Amino acid sequence: MEEAQHLDSQFPAQLRGQFHIPTFASMGLGSDNRELTYLCGNSLGLMPRATKDAVDRELNAWAARGVEGHFNHPFTGDAGDATNWVDIDLPVVPLLAPIVGAQDDEVAIMNSLTANLNALLVAFYKPEGNKNKILFEKGAFPSDFYAFHEQCRLHGVDPTNALVQLEPREGEYYLRTEDILAAIDQYSNQLALVCLPGIQYYTGQLLDIARITDHAHVRGITVGWDLAHAVGNVPLQLHDWGVDFACWCSYKYLNSGPGAIGGAFVHARHSTSSLPRLAGWWGNNRERRFAMLEKFEPIDGALGFRQSNPSVIDVVCLRTSLQLFQQFGSMSQVRERSVRLTSFLKRLLKKSVYYRDQTPKSSDLGFTIITPEQESLHGAQLSLLFHSEMDKIFKHCRSRGLIADERRPNVIRLAPAPLYNTFQDVANAVQILEEALQEIFLK
Ligand SMILES: Cc1ncc(COP(=O)(O)O)c(C=O)c1O
Repeated sequence: MEEAQHLDSQFPAQLRGQFHIPTFASMGLGSDNRELTYLCGNSLGLMPRATKDAVDRELNAWAARGVEGHFNHPFTGDAGDATNWVDIDLPVVPLLAPIVGAQDDEVAIMNSLTANLNALLVAFYKPEGNKNKILFEKGAFPSDFYAFHEQCRLHGVDPTNALVQLEPREGEYYLRTEDILAAIDQYSNQLALVCLPGIQYYTGQLLDIARITDHAHVRGITVGWDLAHAVGNVPLQLHDWGVDFACWCSYKYLNSGPGAIGGAFVHARHSTSSLPRLAGWWGNNRERRFAMLEKFEPIDGALGFRQSNPSVIDVVCLRTSLQLFQQFGSMSQVRERSVRLTSFLKRLLKKSVYYRDQTPKSSDLGFTIITPEQESLHGAQLSLLFHSEMDKIFKHCRSRGLIADERRPNVIRLAPAPLYNTFQDVANAVQILEEALQEIFLK
């Protein structure tokens, strides 16, 4: 497609060559070595080419020195950085902090997403009498629902009363900010916590984190965010927005591999507090960590929330990916490219004969886009809602080389990742989708 080619020459994907792009052959779809159209970085980001060497380096260190790798690592990094395993995560924090708009001491690299959510809920969900409710959304990722539900039970609070779930208005797909604010007002005396997704996984809606956080704070309510789909996707300013806590995973836009190590943010105003928490030796005073004392002195800031020594392999996967982000530029630059790609995707989808501006009727093969139209209300992902045949459509797309992601009951998500996707990928995706629909229609 000429327009895609033109856009790719105007705005080239400078870092694409630094990633492994799966091919038909590597995916087991025949012997063709052409690259697939991978628009699934919202689910699992692609592997940076440098990751293998980074992992090998640690395996070699382990083979060479065994336990001594903790304090006497045989290799220094490309930047001459200290890589002793005991502090392997510390030089990675300053790479991650700008991505979420945090001070270095507000970020910890630890656990994975749900584990971090649970750990932060233990510290920040403080039900007192009738002020025990958690406001979140009806369509929340189930893991979050389970975490909130059990957190209530751990406090002896009945979840059926304490969990307040927001739903979009009848006939609408996503939450209006004004409705979220109104719900905060409605329950303000009973809310112990507001906890929402930065970007909603099903619809792709980007919430107004600053406004919602501020609105709840004025009413004395603690606010946390699940940033699984926002981190590395849209610019965040967690410190300036005053967010109390946040957590995320690193396997989506942060390209750090399946089950990658997660992240946590704890605002500096909580840093020296003596918040009771899920504790472990890695959150303890570094100087006395190996003194084996029965005295827990948490490190100030987010690092004090670490429990275990981090998986070195996981940390270097994250580091490798964050070095690519650093090479790319700021999150505003990432966003600028992302907006171009996603706007192009939206424009092509809307031109399709299968596009509907409302929910497709039964027996109609068409799709509508349930992601908010306004650019400031979404990130890289667009969610396509089908009325029927989603599984079939998805399979047809895959066999033709479009790797996307389906979410039940009836959405296919397409997300051009700004670091490696091209405008040609976007054009291919729409063409493949149309061909798949056409084939199904003719059968
Ligand atoms: C919004 C959201 N929350 C929570 C999770 C659970 O993540 P994990 O398995 O890393 O705990 C996911 C996983 O994709 C997610 O998208």
